[in-house]
Amino acid sequence: MAINVIGAGLAGLSAASTLAETGVFVNLISLKSPYRAQSVLAEGGINAALDTMGEGDAPAEHFADTIRGGVFLSDPDAVRGLTDNAPHIVEKLLEMGTALNTKDGKAVLRNFGGQKKKRTAFSKSSTGKIIMTGLTDLARKYEAGGLIKTFFHHQVTHIDIQDKKCKGVRFFDVYTNKEYYSPGPVILAIGGYNGIFPEMTTGTVYNTGDLLADLFDEGLVLSNLEFIQYHPTTVGIPGKRLLISEAARGEGGRLFIYKDGTPWYFMEELYPDLKNLSPRDVISREMTKAVSRDDTGDTVYLDLTGISPDTWKGKLSDLREEVIYYMDLDPVKDHIPVTPGIHFFMGGIYVDKDHRTSAEGLYAAGECASQYHGANRLGGNSMLGAIYGGSVAAGAAIRDAVMEKDIKTDPEETGIVGKEFLSERKVNADTAFLIRDILLSGLGIIRNKEDMEEALGRLSELFQREDLTGAEKKRIQLGRAMLLCALLRKESRGAHFRTDHPERNDEDFRKTTVARITDGSIDISFEDIKEVML
Ligand code: FUM
Repeated sequence: MAINVIGAGLAGLSAASTLAETGVFVNLISLKSPYRAQSVLAEGGINAALDTMGEGDAPAEHFADTIRGGVFLSDPDAVRGLTDNAPHIVEKLLEMGTALNTKDGKAVLRNFGGQKKKRTAFSKSSTGKIIMTGLTDLARKYEAGGLIKTFFHHQVTHIDIQDKKCKGVRFFDVYTNKEYYSPGPVILAIGGYNGIFPEMTTGTVYNTGDLLADLFDEGLVLSNLEFIQYHPTTVGIPGKRLLISEAARGEGGRLFIYKDGTPWYFMEELYPDLKNLSPRDVISREMTKAVSRDDTGDTVYLDLTGISPDTWKGKLSDLREEVIYYMDLDPVKDHIPVTPGIHFFMGGIYVDKDHRTSAEGLYAAGECASQYHGANRLGGNSMLGAIYGGSVAAGAAIRDAVMEKDIKTDPEETGIVGKEFLSERKVNADTAFLIRDILLSGLGIIRNKEDMEEALGRLSELFQREDLTGAEKKRIQLGRAMLLCALLRKESRGAHFRTDHPERNDEDFRKTTVARITDGSIDISFEDIKEVML
């Protein structure tokens, strides 16, 4: 039996290599090659309490910051595993020769949002690209040994779930249209659902969210869909948002807005503790408020002019090049106009601490899974969550599959994928933008009941249109679920801020929001989370 891994970003590669390391055969299926994965775009770094900067850091502090950052909605057992294993993961990356910034052979760590200690290992601001290079090489080694078989440029048509048990996966070669069926367990490492918000996210447009929407439609349980992370410092470029990494603020960057004609460094005044490295939801909200005041301008700027030449050269030269290339500004001397943009989906596939989904034999890891980040993810925890989560999912898949036959079965060719599938999967640009705009009207940085209800009404109306494709309808259902989760969470927490319920309400809502489709209708409920003492 082979275990099928869908997605060749950090979570997928980590899962595939962990499986192969224990001698398990893997079919690694991905629409794009690893070089085009979302993980390649990850910039600022990966968190681990390595304490190489002599600040007395420890995994317990990383744990506490992650739980606080997620405003007590993360699964504490999962986070404990994540933060305890982080130092080992980064050390292993270094042993593999990953070109992180180091001093005397040890990882240099930088400050990152929501954390007071230097805990983020990095490779300038191209950390994802560098780590992906290492993990791609590792997977290649197992491929050469015959344990991993890669199916890049192959698109999944269907995850075969029968009676809540995953039986296998159907996929096709996008160049030949030849379709295959591979039986066995499946690990989903399919990333976030950027496609639901075209041109508004920092993520890759290839993570459309359509497979997630299919699975939701077929009854897979999702959770915490209301929590969308807006990253404070993004810039609009053709087709997407360009991320100006938090690393820039970690290395001394400051946000300001003109107030009565002079720069007002509002985060420093309003949040003297964490200042420009406050959690992303806090900064995004303050930016939104700052631009709507009568005594301020309408643009927030990122001021990187105080950063030393050595820091630019050793830690941020790639960020500088990017800003010069895309914006024709030199951040060494020019201020960068920034606005918050969608960067990460804390919600996604409901999983337990071992990454099991609601369907037996189906696992999820990386951004598509929801359990580490609660109501708001800390910067630097996503690459960590992907690498660690991929390995945990692989471990669970191996343990669960122990009773299965230990014989490798190659995917079986089943014919040519029909035009029917391709037309069902088509999403017309007009509809995609319409769904996006409706969702944004309800699920912005600052929300309220009226806007969310209106958005829901508009989506319900759109759903009735007769010319929609199957994929468009499923996107609408996913969007409706996101809005319903947000509407029913009558409080403010992390990335979910409501003017009509501005307070956090632990009594009623320190709970996971659970969404499922039953008999064609969307059902939202709330589930208790284990107590955690910090
Ligand atoms: O700003 C950044 O570099 C983002 C990092 C992250 O989301 O982990």
